[in-house]
Amino acid sequence: MNILVTGGAGYIGSHTVVELVEAGHDVVVVDNLVNSSKKSLDRVARIVNKKIAFYEADIRDREKMEKVFSENQFDCCIHFAGLKAVGESVAFPWEYYDNNINGTLVLLDVLRKNGCKNIIFSSSATVYGTPAVVPITEDCPKGQCTNPYGQTKSMLEQIMMDMQKADPEWNVVILRYFNPIGAHKSGTIGESPNGIPNNLMPYITQVAVGKLKELGIFGNDYDTPDGTGVRDYIHVVDLANGHVKALKAIENKCGLAVYNLGTGHGYSVLDIVKAFEEANGIKLPYVIKPRRPGDIAVCYSDPSKAERELDWKAQYDITDMCRDSWRWQKQNPNGYDD
Ligand code: NAD
Ligand code: WQD
Repeated sequence: MNILVTGGAGYIGSHTVVELVEAGHDVVVVDNLVNSSKKSLDRVARIVNKKIAFYEADIRDREKMEKVFSENQFDCCIHFAGLKAVGESVAFPWEYYDNNINGTLVLLDVLRKNGCKNIIFSSSATVYGTPAVVPITEDCPKGQCTNPYGQTKSMLEQIMMDMQKADPEWNVVILRYFNPIGAHKSGTIGESPNGIPNNLMPYITQVAVGKLKELGIFGNDYDTPDGTGVRDYIHVVDLANGHVKALKAIENKCGLAVYNLGTGHGYSVLDIVKAFEEANGIKLPYVIKPRRPGDIAVCYSDPSKAERELDWKAQYDITDMCRDSWRWQKQNPNGYDD
């Protein structure tokens, strides 16, 4: 298929481009590089031994998006482009609503005007809020999001569902990611956050590489086996492959389909510290800090719907994830800034 990948220079997008090209698809990336580097695509090109078509454009820029469509014909769009930092979204809500909501509205309009009514959307487990039950199935009610970032995901899901209902020619696959970590096995592409990382694994790898002094563990008094927060970490390459599998649903004219992409296993922060230390032979200094506002105790998926319907199942375990995250960080201490 001929696929438009928005946000394809980013962390999950770049890994997905690798898997798409390796599965035989043609890819065009649109990214404004607000949170990424063009170098990621140069490295993707090295991995797959093929140049990646790229437009530096903001998805809110209708004129540029029209130009992309006038020069290409797409069978499907995989839509990663968006801002994703939870804390930043609390400080800059307008910017988050403008970028994520307006950007997607322009994209959806340009897609339908050009006859491409197939989209795979990056959603998040954050839409479940504090989950009613774990493991979380797709029919769990959506919860109250505690931040504007989460609201944009929840609203965008609704917008696409409403559009699909009004016009059944649309095929919309909503993928709710759990906690992506890890990196491509080559160690040449990975997560390269700006400034001090908010998320656990990039924080850990920056402690390990000596850029940060110690890990702060946000709370050890949750109602979990060791008191620290439990999450469903998933290797980014497994996640990327979930998108390749989701194209089958598009081909089969799925209408609307929603899938969790997780492993189904919950690991605590202390489990991750231990797994990282064991996988890489590194001691990680840490201190216990107060809970982080907005955090929940436990979140992990029931991924069986994706296995049943998409024939997708995570292949990598927590040791692989820790090893691959570290290989990327070790080989690129400053991410793409090296
Ligand atoms: P990322 O920041 O690495 O990638 C997003 C990409 O989108 C970046 O390259 C950025 O430059 C680009 N972008 C942002 N706004 C744009 C715009 N207006 N026009 C064009 N390009 C734009 O983030 P990621 O971790 O790869 O996440 C990809 C998607 O998955 C995002 O939508 C994110 O919300 C979602 N998601 C991520 C996680 C996670 O933990 N990483 C979890 C659930 C969902
Ligand atoms: C994981 C665990 C923290 C950092 C976020 C977004 C979510 C999704 C994925 C996009 C928690 C603990 C973390 C640290 C710590 N993104 N932690 N010290 O919060 O589950 O999810 O990223 O959609 O929307 O909210 O991920 O990696 O930040 O935290 O103790 O320095 O690690 O408290 O228990 P989270 P995370």
